[in-house]
Amino acid sequence: MAQSDPIAARKALMKENNNNARAAVQMMRGQKPFDAAAVEAAFAQWADTAQKLPGLFPDNSKTGQETKATPKIWQNKKDFDEKAAAFGKAVADNRAKATASLDGLKAAIPVVGKACDNCHEDYRLTQ
Ligand code: HEC
Repeated sequence: MAQSDPIAARKALMKENNNNARAAVQMMRGQKPFDAAAVEAAFAQWADTAQKLPGLFPDNSKTGQETKATPKIWQNKKDFDEKAAAFGKAVADNRAKATASLDGLKAAIPVVGKACDNCHEDYRLTQ
């Protein structure tokens, strides 16, 4: 799927990212009990996304279907890939802390969320 339809593949990954982020935030707010296995699954999925992202923006995926990827990605592919790597590092650095306790999760999620936002600010269209 990654080769044949990179736009659909990256959007599907981002949807998963978002579902996992929402679940983590609900735990932080006490709307859901802390669940170390679910947190671990979220971090595993984010790590997977960070690894796959640089390969999901081939030249033939600038336009086509509905995509919110900005043309800047292809002009600054190196910086884009660095932001994906920074996201991967934030995920790796905070994984043990986040799965250990609710306090750890509360400390970890803002760092990971900032790495999401850092990339979106430059490379995702808001509408
Ligand atoms: C290295 C860059 C980068 C990182 C890191 C990143 N994103 Fe994204 N995200 C994008 C781009 C680019 C798009 C637009 C993709 C498209 O429409 O083709 C996007 C789209 C999305 C979308 C919309 C998906 C859709 O169906 O239109 C959501 C939701 C999202 N990201 C959530 C997240 C969350 C949550 C994180 C962190 C856990 C994250 N992203 C990390 C670059 C990134």
